Amino acid sequence: METGEIIQIFADSGFQIDPVALDMLKSGGSTELINNIIRSVDDSVLVVGAEQLRALTLKKQIEKNNDCCVTVLSDITKKSTCIGEYNDFVQYFNDRYSMLSDLLRKRISSRPIESLRKRNMDAKEELSIIGMVIDKRTTVNGHKMIEVEDTTGSTRVLVHKERDKELLDLASSILLDEVIGVTGTLSGDGNLMFVNKITRPDIPNSQSSKLDVNRSGKAVFISDLHVGSKTFLEASWLKFMDWLGKDINYLVIAGDVVDGIGIFPGQEKELAILDIYEQYEKAAQYLNAIPAHIKIIVSPGNHDAVRQAEPQPCFPDKITRMFRKDITFVGNPALIDIGGARVLIYHGRSMDDIIASTPGFSYSDPSKPMSEMLKFRHLSPTYGGRVSIAPEKKDHFVIDLIPDILHCGHVHTVGVARYRDVLTINSGTWQSQTEFQKRMNLEPMPGRATVVNLSNMEYKIVPFN
Ligand SMILES: [Fe+2]
Repeated sequence: METGEIIQIFADSGFQIDPVALDMLKSGGSTELINNIIRSVDDSVLVVGAEQLRALTLKKQIEKNNDCCVTVLSDITKKSTCIGEYNDFVQYFNDRYSMLSDLLRKRISSRPIESLRKRNMDAKEELSIIGMVIDKRTTVNGHKMIEVEDTTGSTRVLVHKERDKELLDLASSILLDEVIGVTGTLSGDGNLMFVNKITRPDIPNSQSSKLDVNRSGKAVFISDLHVGSKTFLEASWLKFMDWLGKDINYLVIAGDVVDGIGIFPGQEKELAILDIYEQYEKAAQYLNAIPAHIKIIVSPGNHDAVRQAEPQPCFPDKITRMFRKDITFVGNPALIDIGGARVLIYHGRSMDDIIASTPGFSYSDPSKPMSEMLKFRHLSPTYGGRVSIAPEKKDHFVIDLIPDILHCGHVHTVGVARYRDVLTINSGTWQSQTEFQKRMNLEPMPGRATVVNLSNMEYKIVPFN
């Protein structure tokens, strides 16, 4: 199709189109495809980009394979590129910046950081930049000082302590290495920006309402079984297995299938099964006995026998062959489609970092750090914290396609909430309080399963304790 023709069709519907998407359509576009895209894009989008095109293509792909109920949309398994050299890190952070700044650029019009000092700018003129947060502190006078960097340079931005609470709270919750938009005015020498507004990539207010929704089935979400631990609650688990009936179509497990070995000092004292393979044999006995019509999806966590650096690949063959053949093993994180619903599974180790660095957050309410992930459009922004991040060429933690459900575990507490159109589920655990949790004063919420009716996204938390 001709460039002018494509631009015109989008303009008639009130959209602009970015150059990458334009190129994609020039080679394979049709009026029908463009109209489909326009129908699927929500109102908050000004510029249609490759993201919207990819979402639509995936949707078509799923419709084509609708006889197969579980589709893996994205997963690191067998795609790891990382060696861990310096250049890998540069490429990894460049990919993160490029994906997240593209999302922000649709909402704010920004300029490169190096241009702030070059031009003789009117200090009163408000302008915006997009940068990755490389430092964050409170000054001796109580202002918030943040340093941000883009591919051209870095600068400091200051949130005055007398600004409104909303802006100050947002500034306090900013994490190292997240990508944000900053709007404000410059100091006379151009070396400092006085912040009026901080913009996060975030997710749109409403997306699924405009997509033709065609979801069906019932899914159960659980995590953190910790099979092999003395504190694994077998009685609750068996009750749960008995309860799994005809009306359940899918069972999604977000990591820590077993307790593992050597995960923390002195763990052997808390283990009922001391051999890692025997732990998985036991877990396989449990899962293999689940009614055959239920599709099971399993993703690993930090207690499982895969590499500790994230993203983690799925379990090796030596382990998966113990389980029944129809189980779908994915990496961590992984984006899947079940019954037309997009589910982003992430074990959730980054919640340790998010909770530790955000005022007012605690382990008893896992919904808050999970909605932060959606605002960051990233599952684990901070490098060098509790999550050991492997520098892949592509940043697999970026939330590119918006899920219907974000499913995490790890913190062993249950919390289900909605952030905009996304249902966030932290599915708790099947392990009672451990010695470590006792010392840390952490109260787990064991023996609960979250059931979601995928057609209307209504949910119920069912107790088995
Ligand atoms: Fe766990």
